[in-house]
Amino acid sequence: MNAKILLLPGDGIGPEVTVEARRLIDAVAEIHGLDFQIEEALIGGAALDETGDPLPADTLARCREADAVILGAVGGPKWDDPDARKRPEQGLLDLRKELGLFANLRPVRLHPSLADISPLKAEHIRNVDLMVVRELTGGSYFGKKKLSEDTASDDYTYSRDEIERVVRLAANMARNRYGRVTMIDKANVLATSRLWRKVSAEVMEKSFPDVAYETMLVDAAAMHIVANPSRFNVIVTENMFGDILTDEASVLVGSMGMLPSASLGEGTKGLYEPIHGSAPDIAGRGLANPFGMLASVGMMFEYSLGMREVARQIELAIWNAVSSGERTLDIGGNLRTDEAADAVISHLDDIHTKKVAFI
Ligand code: IPM
Ligand code: MG
Repeated sequence: MNAKILLLPGDGIGPEVTVEARRLIDAVAEIHGLDFQIEEALIGGAALDETGDPLPADTLARCREADAVILGAVGGPKWDDPDARKRPEQGLLDLRKELGLFANLRPVRLHPSLADISPLKAEHIRNVDLMVVRELTGGSYFGKKKLSEDTASDDYTYSRDEIERVVRLAANMARNRYGRVTMIDKANVLATSRLWRKVSAEVMEKSFPDVAYETMLVDAAAMHIVANPSRFNVIVTENMFGDILTDEASVLVGSMGMLPSASLGEGTKGLYEPIHGSAPDIAGRGLANPFGMLASVGMMFEYSLGMREVARQIELAIWNAVSSGERTLDIGGNLRTDEAADAVISHLDDIHTKKVAFI
């Protein structure tokens, strides 16, 4: 196995957490006697500054050749001018579209010892274990945009195929979890949501009669996610609702810095990124929590490299680091970014050599 992994550090804390991703991949390679081809390329504001393009052609070409892409974060105040012709975020959006990564998987699981850090009551979040499957290449994000002095519009379109493929992926995922899917929409108002409702029901009835299925309006879902989050298991929803609900869900687990994501398409190629942004307020200070990024690396081993066991070991290593109090500031610790990653790597070593289980 000589998988090609491309790193896109991007902006803000992106480079800091991407360095730790690389160290974790190197550690896995060493532990398991593997060899990976790891390269780096520009994206986002960093690419904009250097080449004038947030997704340079060279970066896209190398992403197409890679088996997996790891991304830090894009954006920052430096590029926030609302009149700017190009924004760093566009680089990420174009990359998702160009690689056909239509499904964004965002698992949200609470480490019990972080229940106290969450602003929500511990008894409400105890059993949180959800997987949000966000549609990633359609809807208002990708429709035609018009902006003039007095009016603006964003086309908001979904086709049957776009809905069907992501609902199928979510339902398949549910079969390996608790067999329950909640499809979230705004079918009382939006035409796109009515199509989502129709197509999802057809797919579920025809191909997944064994998976429990319900629908929920997005406003109600926003309330239930904080009031009663453990009622959810697999959530599937359109692009923008997924963007908003996953930031909301991150509050459940104490810190956004904990959460990973995987963006997948038809094949095994994937884009892996922590869900936190570029966090310009703490950039360059060694304060970033690397766990969301390291967990994203775990997802890469599972979904793109077919190494499920390695993925489980990484998950467990992060879990054990949190259990042992080896944490960054955002989750009540005092470790710096690299020290927190050291802890994970050392737990990974222990897991491999001594087969330690959950602490
Ligand atoms: C995310 C981010 C992006 C999105 C931004 C950076 C364009 O918020 O991955 O959730 O809205 O998809
Ligand atoms: Mg977001």
